[in-house]
Amino acid sequence: MPGAETFRTSADAYDRHVGRYGPQLAAALFDFAALEPGMRALDVGCGPGALTGALAERLGPASVVGADPSAQFAEACRARLPEVEVVVASAESLPFADGSFDAVLSQLVVNFMAEPEAGVREMARVCRPGGVVASCVWDYADEMTLLRAFWDAAREVQPARAAAADEGVVMRWCGDGELGELWRRAGLRGVRVGALVARASYADFDDLWAPLPEGVAPSGAFCASLDEDRRAALRDAYRRQLGVGDEPFELSARAWAAAGTVP
Ligand SMILES: C[S@@+](CC[C@H](N)C(=O)[O-])C[C@H]1O[C@@H](n2cnc3c(N)ncnc32)[C@H](O)[C@@H]1O
Repeated sequence: MPGAETFRTSADAYDRHVGRYGPQLAAALFDFAALEPGMRALDVGCGPGALTGALAERLGPASVVGADPSAQFAEACRARLPEVEVVVASAESLPFADGSFDAVLSQLVVNFMAEPEAGVREMARVCRPGGVVASCVWDYADEMTLLRAFWDAAREVQPARAAAADEGVVMRWCGDGELGELWRRAGLRGVRVGALVARASYADFDDLWAPLPEGVAPSGAFCASLDEDRRAALRDAYRRQLGVGDEPFELSARAWAAAGTVP
């Protein structure tokens, strides 16, 4: 599980990096999972709370619980959504009784789990029979533009190290259909897969770049590990790869999703 430790960092930097896509992606995942009012839902790997917030808005905060192994992110989620219960816990060991929820979701988390199959089985355990387990992961290898362009730029600057860290290569369960395979392996039924697309706006390239040297997420950790000259070269290459500059722009990001029913 490459990079889970890179989320023990500031929620603010996360929000300005991949977190920018979170609310739109959460709305798409909510619809893909076909959640309905009245359901009780768990958000596994809730981070600072993009999906938790969408669940709380649509299901009511008392019907939503968040869980994340990062104490910093769990605290940020609690601060943003004080009416939602948030626990510090990993997917592989959830502190809930069998069948506690109608829906168990996770957004951008499965590829960071130490034991993904055990994590998804545990998500299914705490979901009631007939309930839904659904997740999405970035399409790192292709249409997650922000990260694809980052690793392509990194490969220009430090080819061997970047190739070994490129999330498009090292992340499992992030190709078309792979999450569905994991869902079936974990015993879920009626598995559906699909693509979700989210967009984010930037004031200019500096707005996009600013959180990376803070070391957030695997891309930020790579950026922060470089010396000053290489970081400046990465910055130039990244700007060129994206084809953006000092004007406002938007990027789109695709995620692969899977949903299945607990037998
Ligand atoms: C890319 S962030 C996604 C956060 C949030 N779900 C969102 O959409 O913004 C990945 C999250 O997975 C959490 N995480 C890492 N390993 C995990 C595990 N084994 N079980 C549950 N969450 C995990 C990290 O702490 C981090 O909050």
